[in-house]
Amino acid sequence: MILITGGSGFIGSNLANYFISKGYDVTVFDNLSSGKVENLTSNLNKRNFNLIRGDVRDKEFINSSMKGVEEVYHLAADPSVKDSATNPEGSFRINVDGTFNVLEAARKNDVKKIVFTSSSTVYGETKVLPTPEEHPEIPISNYAASKVAGEVYISSYASTYGIKGVVLRLANIFGPPSAHGVMYDFYKKLLADPQKLEILGDGKQSKSYLYISDCIDAIVLASSKQKKVYDYFNVGSAEMTTVDEVAKSMCSVLGIKPKFEHTGGKRGWTGDVVKMLLSTEKIEKLGWKKKVSLKEGVKRYIEWLKTAE
Ligand SMILES: NC(=O)c1ccc[n+]([C@@H]2O[C@H](COP(=O)([O-])OP(=O)(O)OC[C@H]3O[C@@H](n4cnc5c(N)ncnc54)[C@H](O)[C@@H]3O)[C@@H](O)[C@H]2O)c1
Repeated sequence: MILITGGSGFIGSNLANYFISKGYDVTVFDNLSSGKVENLTSNLNKRNFNLIRGDVRDKEFINSSMKGVEEVYHLAADPSVKDSATNPEGSFRINVDGTFNVLEAARKNDVKKIVFTSSSTVYGETKVLPTPEEHPEIPISNYAASKVAGEVYISSYASTYGIKGVVLRLANIFGPPSAHGVMYDFYKKLLADPQKLEILGDGKQSKSYLYISDCIDAIVLASSKQKKVYDYFNVGSAEMTTVDEVAKSMCSVLGIKPKFEHTGGKRGWTGDVVKMLLSTEKIEKLGWKKKVSLKEGVKRYIEWLKTAE
């Protein structure tokens, strides 16, 4: 049986829907703080699917929910860099304590493998682009620090207790049913006023964006193919796109020409990494390849956003 924490959120629900469609027994463990049951509706009545409303901060409950589980995909987190600056303790309790509770539950229940969604932000502000996995992790946000903490505990549990650990350092992932991130933010603003678009920072922040189906392919592949007791992989696209270019691409799909209004400064928010490009050679060696271009991904996401209104 597979247990997916955060399995009703954006990436987690895509992963849960994938495994359920392949016939695996899947339990989603989620406190529904940002995740939605609607993201899993196609599977609500399937016999191989179970939804537990629970919080990873509740160590007794996560422990009792892991009985009979063989593999854990740990995605539950507060994914907001901004929140981690304004509420560092809240972010720490979910992302660090929560991950520790998940690992302890895994150890006590003889779980064989844990797959963890880390982040490109762990590298901080580096001049080495594309950034390879062996680059030092020097976080510039509390969120990134919490992901480094999760990674090193997974490495330690792999070595100490033989629980296989797989870490995926994800770039900016977008697509349905995401309800956060730069594209979602732009869409909401443009819906409210198609004449102008407020862009946080100077619009020149340059990052790698990856469509959700390519991200799910990478998680599934790394989980099934990697041989070591612990390993870690970057997951992203090979090109950097500026925030202004993301806005232009969305406006072109929507057929509108708003005035861009930049709030100024090189960062969009505290802890924002202004240039991010991951080297993906390592996961490509396992057989992963990006399939969806940014243009195509933006088109698909906007089509979905229109129907989700
Ligand atoms: N989306 C991205 O671009 C991106 C990039 C890098 C890493 N990640 C990581 O991938 C994972 C999934 O991100 P997402 O974009 O799907 O975010 P999301 O907010 O859509 O999903 C997070 C899920 O975790 C649940 N959750 C939050 N706190 C919880 C708690 N205390 N107990 C149980 N469940 C809880 C939420 O209800 C939600 O369903 C996160 O770990 C995030 O840090 C995401």
